[in-house]
Amino acid sequence: MQTFADQARRQGRTIAFIPTMGFLHDGHLSLIREGCRHGSEVVVSIFVNPTQFGPGEDLDTYPRAFEQDCELAEKTGATLIFHPTREDLYGENYQTFVTLEKLPFHLCGLSRPVFFRGVATVVTKLFNIVKPHIAVFGEKDYQQLLVIRRMVRDLNFDIRIIGAPTVREPDGLAMSSRNSYLSPDERRRALCLFQALKRAEEMVREGVRNVSELIGAVRELIDVHPDTVVDYIEIFDPETIEPIAAVNSPARMALAVKIGKTRLIDNTLLTP
Ligand code: PAJ
Repeated sequence: MQTFADQARRQGRTIAFIPTMGFLHDGHLSLIREGCRHGSEVVVSIFVNPTQFGPGEDLDTYPRAFEQDCELAEKTGATLIFHPTREDLYGENYQTFVTLEKLPFHLCGLSRPVFFRGVATVVTKLFNIVKPHIAVFGEKDYQQLLVIRRMVRDLNFDIRIIGAPTVREPDGLAMSSRNSYLSPDERRRALCLFQALKRAEEMVREGVRNVSELIGAVRELIDVHPDTVVDYIEIFDPETIEPIAAVNSPARMALAVKIGKTRLIDNTLLTP
């Protein structure tokens, strides 16, 4: 991979990079299409990164479909698939990790304490291996996008980070590899994340500014469903993720909800 990257760079080609954990859906493919607009080489990595999963999480059951992923990625414009093994990236006696001091102590970082350390570490490693000029990440994982942007600035990576909008199913559910875990009944309930975000957008349009009121109304929409548990619903400053009391300027709303055993996340921009 590094030899390929060096050669591409020597020949003046631009490398766009889309890191993924595979089981590709239209959300991933939209990032590949975005990569094609920026790079003559479009590298897609497929690696289910063990260091970002906590104990008891779904590392061993995470869905995989490597052959199909390759076909989809190539059809969409990927010029190279990078598919390392766990041993390739974390060999014996591995001990170096990248951590951030503030951003992970919000939202998903609270219930998944090793998650952003694992993401920042593997993305650093992938950046050093793939040597991209630009890399594309989805707004679907909003906190992850902020963590990557911060890390790139803090560690002086010479890489442009592009954020791409969330791709949704026709009914509004954000596409996710983890949607494959949902039973038909859970799939129906999963729509409450999108409905909650829409309700909040509507309330802000109608003039509601108070964050507690917005979160309270949204929580009610989710709590009516059986076996559906809110991990968090937050409205926060879109850059720092610090909580705010009122939506007087554009703010981000994000939520994480467990539908049965499956934890789903989604977010939206609230514009007063
Ligand atoms: P994964 O969940 O496979 O997602 C790969 C990329 O696809 C991420 O940038 C994510 O934000 C984006 N994505 C996922 N669902 C999307 C959707 N519905 N619309 C648009 N983009 C979407 O995120 C990871 O993998 C990993 O943490 C990784 C960054 C690869 C590090 O291991």
